[in-house]
Amino acid sequence: MNRHWWKEGIVYQIYPRSFQDTTGTGIGDIQGVIKRLDYIKGLGVDIIWLNPVYESPNDDNGYDISDYRNIMQEFGTMADFDELLAGMKERDLKLVMDLVVNHTSDEHQWFEESRKSRDNPYRDYYHWWPAEKGIPPKRWSYFDVEGSAWKYEEITDAYYLHYFSVKQPDLNWENPEVRKEIYDLMQFWFEKGVDGFRMDVISFISKDMNFPELPESYKGKFIPFYSNGPKLHDYLHEMNQSVLKKYDVMTVGEAPGVSIEQALEFVDEDREELNMFFHFDLMELDREAGEPFLMAKEPWKLTEFKKIHSAWDAVFAEKGWGSMFLNNHDFPRSVSRWGNDSRTHWYNSATMLQTFLLSMRGTPFFYYGEEIGMTNIRFENISEYQDINTINRYKTEEQRGGNLVKFIENEKDASRDNARTPMQWDTSENAGFSETKPWLKVNLNHQEGINVASQEGKKNSVLNYFRQMVQVRKDHPTLVYGSYQLLLQSDEEVYAYSRVLENMRYLVLLSFSTKKKIKTINEIVFEKAELVISNDEIYPTNQNNQFELMPYQACIYKLS
Ligand code: NOJ
Repeated sequence: MNRHWWKEGIVYQIYPRSFQDTTGTGIGDIQGVIKRLDYIKGLGVDIIWLNPVYESPNDDNGYDISDYRNIMQEFGTMADFDELLAGMKERDLKLVMDLVVNHTSDEHQWFEESRKSRDNPYRDYYHWWPAEKGIPPKRWSYFDVEGSAWKYEEITDAYYLHYFSVKQPDLNWENPEVRKEIYDLMQFWFEKGVDGFRMDVISFISKDMNFPELPESYKGKFIPFYSNGPKLHDYLHEMNQSVLKKYDVMTVGEAPGVSIEQALEFVDEDREELNMFFHFDLMELDREAGEPFLMAKEPWKLTEFKKIHSAWDAVFAEKGWGSMFLNNHDFPRSVSRWGNDSRTHWYNSATMLQTFLLSMRGTPFFYYGEEIGMTNIRFENISEYQDINTINRYKTEEQRGGNLVKFIENEKDASRDNARTPMQWDTSENAGFSETKPWLKVNLNHQEGINVASQEGKKNSVLNYFRQMVQVRKDHPTLVYGSYQLLLQSDEEVYAYSRVLENMRYLVLLSFSTKKKIKTINEIVFEKAELVISNDEIYPTNQNNQFELMPYQACIYKLS
């Protein structure tokens, strides 16, 4: 058992814009995070992942960085940042920053120079395609109204590459100066004392410099092509050798398009690249094939959900390490997506999903508000949306005369803004997030119990269950390091598995059903199972190896 703090730690992700406003701007800030540090510590979590706080014109809420060594004015100052870090160290909390180096903002000084002339010293910091070579081969962009990742610039009669918005030009990692700049800036933050990086679309950094026409096998499926760049692993290894290995830090790559067969190339310890990465197989489960933003017509199946997690657990059983998450700032709220946010099932399903993340192998990542069961807001009107992704795709749909009603119906379930509404601290007008109108509407259900203050003093609250379950993970290292075995493989209602480490054995039962269910688990005798935690009453059955589960019930048993 190769123990590490980043394997045992529980991560709490903060989208600073939406967490706590202390300056009356309607936008969260760093002082807001400082103000809530005791709350965060009180959750029992160990690590904070902070979404980007660097200087940025906010075309994509901080994922378009114009200065890697400065703090976004809306969020505060470097002094605020230092105070945050000191406050975290005092409380023994680790800080993981976002590293966004596939692209910069077009307002970064490097790009401002690069676009000036073909012989500017910064020209090769980015990917340029001279117009005399003709129209560049199709590359798809996430946030471009025309769907093209090439933008023509008259000044130098050339196109630049942007996998994301036109204001997010892709950096040219082939250029050793670019790589040096990146390693230096990483060092800058490590020297300050930060404990790691979550690396934004790190699987996209290496490009085939010939920019061939998209190979046939990738037609209609760009993402795996983007993440298969020829020098990706050379760069990750070099980054590791140049910076990472000098520090005791945690690295988690965001790796869309990376398949299970490629997984160990990133995290096999012997290769010295990353500690872990986020895969997106689960995030694709309820989407149309190859369409990351379109909800699938058919509902997702629990057997598929189990299959994904079982396969990803198996790949790291001997080497490497995994990560576990159900939502983040790019995806809808977990209880609305994987559970059931109706009044009847909200409590059980929110706590059942917490039990799941905290009883699997792999580092669990929680997203702010998940600890109180925050839900999707389901905006009805395009004017309520703030996210560049929804807004630009709406424009595209409008231009092609598409069905806008259908578009909004999709966004109600799929939009990233579902996950970005302000943190619900109490029942006051703006949920204790801000004294003024927030940048994005607050979900009104903060007045109906989905807020920290109301849940704080209540024994059976999602918040207090979360704290209890965090403690269960800490008290039972088998839940962190133990092997995992799937039970009831073909059952569409209950997810059951065991976790085993040496002579310790646990059984985890998670109901994904709105109905009461009785399940037979061969070889496990109910009478002999000792209950560790449950989010509902336990009703013994008449048969020795039958377990009765209430709707969305979660329980963990210790087996002798
Ligand atoms: C992934 C980030 O999580 C997302 O929020 C962002 O829009 C893109 N990368 C581009 O940086």
